[in-house]
Amino acid sequence: MITSYTVAPDIDILTSNFPIPGYGLVPINAFVFKGSEPILVETGAAIESAEFMEALRTVIDPADLRWIWLSHTDFDHIGSVHQLLRENPRLRVITTFLGMGIMGLTAPLPIDRVYFVNPGETLTLGNRKLTAIKPPTFDNPCTTAFYDHTSGTLFSADSFGALLQSVPQSAADLSEKDLRDGQVLWTTIDSPWIHKVDANTFAGELASLRKLAPSLVLSNHLPPAPGRLLDRFLATLTAAPGAHPFVGPNQTAFEQMLKQMTASPA
Ligand SMILES: [Fe+2]
Ligand SMILES: [Fe+2]
Repeated sequence: MITSYTVAPDIDILTSNFPIPGYGLVPINAFVFKGSEPILVETGAAIESAEFMEALRTVIDPADLRWIWLSHTDFDHIGSVHQLLRENPRLRVITTFLGMGIMGLTAPLPIDRVYFVNPGETLTLGNRKLTAIKPPTFDNPCTTAFYDHTSGTLFSADSFGALLQSVPQSAADLSEKDLRDGQVLWTTIDSPWIHKVDANTFAGELASLRKLAPSLVLSNHLPPAPGRLLDRFLATLTAAPGAHPFVGPNQTAFEQMLKQMTASPA
C-alpha cells in the first residue's frame, strides 16, 4: 500500500514498504518537491506502478510536474517514469549519460526528454536550486543524489536506508539501536563493496557531507529524518566497512524458510 504525507513545506512523500522475508521491511520512497517547477524525485517501484500513479494524483496533478529526478535506474525507482512521460509532454527526466544508457537496455528514455546532470553541477529549477552529489553508498553506478539549497534538504538516494521491523513517519521515532542496526544491514546489502573501501578515505568523504548541515535528510529507503540525525547516520556509515558482510540464505536455508512459511498452524 502506498501512502503519502507532507514532510516539509512544499515537500510530500509517497511511501510503501517492501518485505524482505526474515529481515524486515524496506521503505520505498518517492518525493514531490512543489514550487514553480515541481519535481518528482523517483517514480515508485515497477510492481506497483498503477497504485503509485493513483497515490501521486492525490498529492499533485501529474500534468503540473516539470521534472523527474531519477537518482538511478533500479526497479524500485523507475516504476512510473514512462507513464508520466506519456501523460505530460513537457516533463523531463534528470539523469546521467550512464542512467540513460542503462534505461536503453530495457525501456529507452526519449533523448529529447532527458536532462543530464553530473555530481558537482548545480541546476536552477524554477524557485529551487539543486546541486547534484555522489552519495556515499549506492548500488548502481549512475546514482546521483542532490542538495536542495532552497529547503536545506539532502536527498541521499539509497544511502542511509534501513531495514526495519516497523516504519514510522519520521526516522526520529526509531530507537537508536533499530536505526543503527537497520542502516548497517541495509548498507551491507545495498553496497556490499563497502567492505573493500579504505576506512579513512571513506570517513573523509562522509565528513564532506556533514558540511552541508541539512535541515532535512530524505533517503529512498528510510523515513524522512530531521537534519540533526545526519551526524548519527555518518557515524553508522563510518563503522559499516568493518561490519559483518551480508550473506543471503543458501538453498538449504531457503527451503527451511519455505517450510516454515507453508507449515499449517497446529
Ligand atoms: Fe538502488
Ligand atoms: Fe533503491
